[in-house]
Amino acid sequence: MKRFALILAAGKGTRMKTELPKCAFPILRKPMINYIVESVEASRIDETAVVVGHQREVLEDLLDGRVSFAYQDQQLGTGHAALAAESVLGGREGTTIILLGDMPLIDETIIDKAIASHETFENDLTIVTANFEDPEGYGRIIRDKYGRVEAIVEEADCTENQRQINEINTGLYVVDNALLFRTLRRIEKSERKGEYYLTDIVELLRDEHQVGTYAIREATKVMGVNDLYAISIAEKYLRDEINRRHMLNGVSMINPETITVGHNVTIEGNVTIMPNTTITGNSTIKEGAVLGPNTEVHNGVIHRDVTVRHSLVYDSIVNDRTTVGPFAHLRKNANIGRDNRIGNFVEVKKSSTGANTKASHLAYIGDAETGSRVNFGAGSITVNYDGVEKHETCIGDDVFIGCNTNLVAPLSVEDNVFIAAGSTVTDDVPQGALAIARNRQINKADYARNLVKPKHNRASAKPVDSKEPLAEAEWKSSK
Ligand code: UD1
Ligand code: CA
Repeated sequence: MKRFALILAAGKGTRMKTELPKCAFPILRKPMINYIVESVEASRIDETAVVVGHQREVLEDLLDGRVSFAYQDQQLGTGHAALAAESVLGGREGTTIILLGDMPLIDETIIDKAIASHETFENDLTIVTANFEDPEGYGRIIRDKYGRVEAIVEEADCTENQRQINEINTGLYVVDNALLFRTLRRIEKSERKGEYYLTDIVELLRDEHQVGTYAIREATKVMGVNDLYAISIAEKYLRDEINRRHMLNGVSMINPETITVGHNVTIEGNVTIMPNTTITGNSTIKEGAVLGPNTEVHNGVIHRDVTVRHSLVYDSIVNDRTTVGPFAHLRKNANIGRDNRIGNFVEVKKSSTGANTKASHLAYIGDAETGSRVNFGAGSITVNYDGVEKHETCIGDDVFIGCNTNLVAPLSVEDNVFIAAGSTVTDDVPQGALAIARNRQINKADYARNLVKPKHNRASAKPVDSKEPLAEAEWKSSK
């Protein structure tokens, strides 16, 4: 028997009050719909259809090639959305699990268990339910005196008594595929909202078919996300889960509630992460590294025993034992060699360094290839931009670059070079040379006193009459 997943994701998400369609909204930088599709892919589902509508192209781009799409032209409710999938799933034999595009915490275990329960009890429709301490906003499960499900009633349509019910509809259903589409056609428009409620299939099926429920214990995993506050709750849940997994693997986290680690991040054991640190994208952190506090790594590879403090590392690599920060910025393919020191207020962009190179303070290294044992003095700049194009700087091994040096690219500095502080170097420097590119100093003997006349010297040049107030004495002496 084939198993299909039908995901409803055509809604605008009005309660989000954002431009982006709700199901595309990111949590830990990953769009909500991708969480759901990944869980479906990990489950025993054979084929997936996603119903799109509002800004359909955004979702179609996110899921390109992974699912089939159905189109709901007008958002007339969840029942209407499910029926739109007839173009993809209609006439097929099998079991369909319906999911909502706003339940990002769902996992494959819940999907598989719901299907297993549906099959074990030979149900025609299985509703996945949960008990919420605070059921606000969810449809309530109404049962008769024998405990059989009678209906699902949306909160806005509940009587005062029904509103007290804690058993809610998660929005996840397992149903025979052919029966589903036959029943969806029979749903009538709700008078109150003018929408077709998918939940109405319960009343349509309960008398002549077997309708059962499957209750989920981990209620948070089936939460629906309707607004930005719910996004923050889902994000906190995911963050805690991910951090817990890393901590159990031997990653030490100080104040973990301030630490955010994305899904595709690999962290080896014996790594320490300090407060206010975010590691996202395809990042890898190797053994012995210490990251943070106040550090961001996105698509970074941090090798063994590296320290990064108060710094940003984007799309860059830092090799063994190097220290970065405080307040350094590595970006766009910076590849920092081993045993380097990239210190205070240093920016490195699209550049590589060899081993044992140092830029300890206030430097900009951009579009440069740098050898080993190079020392960038404070204030060294690779001048890589002429206002139109970027140019490259090539620096050999064992080069000493004095403070406040401009290396005007394109430029090549060979091995064993010494560049005098304050130089603006525009010509290539050959191996072994001392480069000085600044005006020679002139000392004018005894000239300083013509320029330097501190006020107190002038005042004390004439003796001040002790009876005169000081201000007056100064005024007189200046006449
Ligand atoms: C729905 C359920 C409610 C359940 C809750 C669980 C209905 C009528 N209500 O309410 O019983 O407790 O989910 O979270 O089903 N969508 C479309 N087209 C539409 C309308 C919605 O594709 O015309 C999609 C949305 O993109 C969303 C999903 O369906 O992903 C759910 O819609 P939403 O408006 O969030 O339903 P709830 O009011 O939360
Ligand atoms: Ca919802």
